Amino acid sequence: PMLSLGNTYSEAEIFDFDQRVRKLLPGETVEYVCELKYDGVAIGLTYEQGALKYAVTRGDGIQGDDVTANVRTIKSIPLRLFGSDFPSEFEIRGEIVMPRPEFERLNEERIEIGDQPFANPRNAASGSLKMQDSSEVSKRSLDCYLYFLIGENLSYESHYENLMKIRDWGFKAPMYIAKCKTIDDIFEFINFWDKARDELSIDIDGIVIKVNAHDQQKRLGFTAKSPRWAIAYKFKAKQALTRLLSVDFQVGRTGAVTPVANLEPVLLAGTIVKRASLHNADIIKKLDVRIGDMVFVEKGGEIIPKIVGVDRSRRDPASAEFQFITQCPECGSKLERMEGEAAHYCPNESGCPPQIKGKIEHFISRKAMNIESLGEGKVGMLFDNGLVNNIADLYDLKAEDLLGLQKEYVIEGNEKNRVVKFREKTVENIIAGISLSKKVPFERVLFALGIRFIGETIAKKLARHFGSIDELQKAGFDELKQAEEIGDVIAGSIINYFSNPVNIKTVERLKQHGIQFAIQKSETPLLSDRLAGKSFVVSGVFTISRDEMKTLIEKHGGRNVGSISAKTDFVLAGEKMGPEKKKKADSLGVAIISEDDFYSMISG
Ligand code: IVH
Repeated sequence: PMLSLGNTYSEAEIFDFDQRVRKLLPGETVEYVCELKYDGVAIGLTYEQGALKYAVTRGDGIQGDDVTANVRTIKSIPLRLFGSDFPSEFEIRGEIVMPRPEFERLNEERIEIGDQPFANPRNAASGSLKMQDSSEVSKRSLDCYLYFLIGENLSYESHYENLMKIRDWGFKAPMYIAKCKTIDDIFEFINFWDKARDELSIDIDGIVIKVNAHDQQKRLGFTAKSPRWAIAYKFKAKQALTRLLSVDFQVGRTGAVTPVANLEPVLLAGTIVKRASLHNADIIKKLDVRIGDMVFVEKGGEIIPKIVGVDRSRRDPASAEFQFITQCPECGSKLERMEGEAAHYCPNESGCPPQIKGKIEHFISRKAMNIESLGEGKVGMLFDNGLVNNIADLYDLKAEDLLGLQKEYVIEGNEKNRVVKFREKTVENIIAGISLSKKVPFERVLFALGIRFIGETIAKKLARHFGSIDELQKAGFDELKQAEEIGDVIAGSIINYFSNPVNIKTVERLKQHGIQFAIQKSETPLLSDRLAGKSFVVSGVFTISRDEMKTLIEKHGGRNVGSISAKTDFVLAGEKMGPEKKKKADSLGVAIISEDDFYSMISG
């Protein structure tokens, strides 16, 4: 498994960490190595006979994505190692990052062609690794730092020596490291980098502290989630103080209205901030933010910074309490606010422009129909030209409708506006991408429809439970609630969706275009037939979700059954399995196996 680190946010917690380590190693001298905590995408590289074989992302910690082709384009990752003293087979882990200047260049380019800019360098790195065209990836200057060597027969005695050695083999190891003997040394390193981090060309979000000696690391071992020999210290988010000039209201694809603050530009953690999120009416009320106030903005990992407080001492005594809007700023409909919900909603689902565009953007997004050839900019152009008003319209598009469409983008601080024009190649790609999406499996189609509260995971559960859209549509409230994790809110939302004739018509039209509205069992290729003919009851909590577990069973030829009977072959028991189930399995003589037993079974 690709584990992560325990996080700490205060000096006291580091002190506790040090105490825990020393208690487990009584009387021994302990030395730590401090490193930067790179804010990028975790990667595992496998080398065989000195050649790069695989590059895999973290994914859920057990199964990630194979991104070897894209990683091969990263210049700082050696395809062949120097020297000869490396193990014949080993894995090395690290972090792929996008340097900030490259991130800024890429975002400018994206804005120019009407694509949504990336929120931060981490997202840009992650998005780049997912691209299908490796030659495009090679144009983005990604970088990689390696900090964790894994493998049998590693002869070096300490983490520090490992880092020196991997440098000889051609890897980029962390540049700024310090051996620390005392807690004070550690704090000194932390405090230095907390201030100096803006000067780096890459983003770091903290410091990692590791016990240096391998022999001590080995004895400290791991908990279920992370090593006991290392810990991360996360820097506090940086704040800035600036004036709130005005508030805009944005309407999202679900009709939720988000207030966004316009600020007097201010420098925060290396970038100029002009806008910040205000979340919802409750938060505005709680903060009692008023136009003209001096406000504290903070940058977390989110798309835009958020307002976290107000400097009341500098408030204009004549200022008035902030009033939330009552009508949709886009279509004028009266806003609604449901009991117990924080957000205001515009109810005009099929007539409010940002809701229509937002639904189409969601439909084409990567985890939904994955129509890569259309981005937000292009969807906007299709909508503005009256070609696409509804997700089903995409499948009616013809090349001749699109050829020659163009849009002028106004670029801030740039005298010439950029014109984006649909040429033959673009049009060909768009039509091909739309057509290819007809192969997308039902569970993702269900997610793509954008039914409120149906995220990726719930869509999977519903697809698995009902098997087809027809069965889902037929199901009543109580039947819906029979499915795993479906409660009143989601069941209500599904009933509501199918009670709208516009939605029923959309689904009908999509069906006619050949979109997948039922599970295709044969579509999932088997990983092995090690579980062929075996039936499983899955119960309890695992390191992966229960659904992922069930999928794994099926992918190895096994069958999931709902309840234990004499015919069940195995009960796969996670943590917290109910005592009743155990009793029943025991009385029927059904074998109970653990998650580890299961992994041994499927790996042979
Ligand atoms: S060591 C067994 N060192 O932060 C885990 N991780 O929150 C060993 N990270 O999973 C990880 N910089 O993706 C380590 N210098 C560094 C790191 C680092 C960034 C990431 C890594 C890890 C996550 C933990």
